[in-house]
Amino acid sequence: MKVIPLTGTIGAEIVGARVTDPDDFQQIFDAFAAHSVVVIRDQQCTPGDHLAFARRFGQINVNRFFKPVVGYPEIATVLKEKDQTEAVGEGWHTDHSYDEVPAMGSILRALEVPPFGGDTLFVSMAAAYEALSPSMRKFVDGLSAVHSSRHVFGSSIRDSEAATSGRLGNANAATQDATHPVVITHPISGRRGLYVNPVFTTHIQGLNPDESLAILAMIYEHCKQPEFQCRIRWSAGDITIWDNRATWHKAINDYHGFRRLMHRVTIEGVPLGAAVAA
Ligand code: SIN
Repeated sequence: MKVIPLTGTIGAEIVGARVTDPDDFQQIFDAFAAHSVVVIRDQQCTPGDHLAFARRFGQINVNRFFKPVVGYPEIATVLKEKDQTEAVGEGWHTDHSYDEVPAMGSILRALEVPPFGGDTLFVSMAAAYEALSPSMRKFVDGLSAVHSSRHVFGSSIRDSEAATSGRLGNANAATQDATHPVVITHPISGRRGLYVNPVFTTHIQGLNPDESLAILAMIYEHCKQPEFQCRIRWSAGDITIWDNRATWHKAINDYHGFRRLMHRVTIEGVPLGAAVAA
C-alpha cells in the first residue's frame, strides 16, 4: 500500500488498499490520522461493505435529515439529479457540529459522478489555526461558540429544493444546539485547530452580536485560503474518509445537467476538549 500526499498541508491518496480487507485497515487509519482526508480509488463495494468499513472506525452516527438509502437506514443519500440546482453540502461546513458529541468522521462513496465537476474541497483547520498571528490565536483560544441544526434543517428550509425534492427531511428533528470550543485540541493528533464553520455556527459566546459576526467572518475568510486546502476529483467507486474535527468540506456545485449520487456514512465521535482550560 502506498500513501501519496495530495498537498503539503492536507489530504492523501491511498493506492493498493481494499476497504473490504481487514488487514488493510490499520494503515488506512494511520493515513487518515496523519492527513485528515484520504481517498481510496476504485473500490468494489456494496452498501454492506461500506458500513462494515465504517464500523472499523467506530459506531455509526445516523444522520437525522438526509434521505436514507433504501434498506440501509444508517447510510445517507447525497444526491443531485440532473434537473436540480442545489447541491447538498455546497456551503463550507463540517458534519454534525450541532451535536453535543460531534461526529468524528464521514465516509463518502461515489456511485455516480458527472463527466466533469462535482469535486469536494477540504480545508485543514489545524493549518488555518497555526497561520493566525500569535495574538489572534491567544484571543480565540479561550472562546466558545454555539452550533445549531435549526436554521439549516428545520422548518425554515421547507420550501428549498432539497426539502421539496425529498433529499432533506425530518425538519421536526432539527432541535440540536451545542456549544464547542472555538479552538479544540484534536482527540487523535493533539494538534490545535479551529472548530467553527459557516453553516452550523450561530455565534461566539460572550461577544456582542456585531463582534461575533466580525470575528467569525474574519476566521471564515482566513480559513478559505487555497494553501490550507485539498481537492478530491471523484470517479465512481472512489471512497473518501475525512475527519470532521480537523477539516471543513464543500461540495462544488458546478455540474448542472448531470446526476451525482454518493452514499455517506458518519461515525460517532467524542466530546471536544478546548485548547486551553476555560
Ligand atoms: C457532504 O457535505 O457531506 C457531501 C460532500 C459531497 O457531496 O461532496
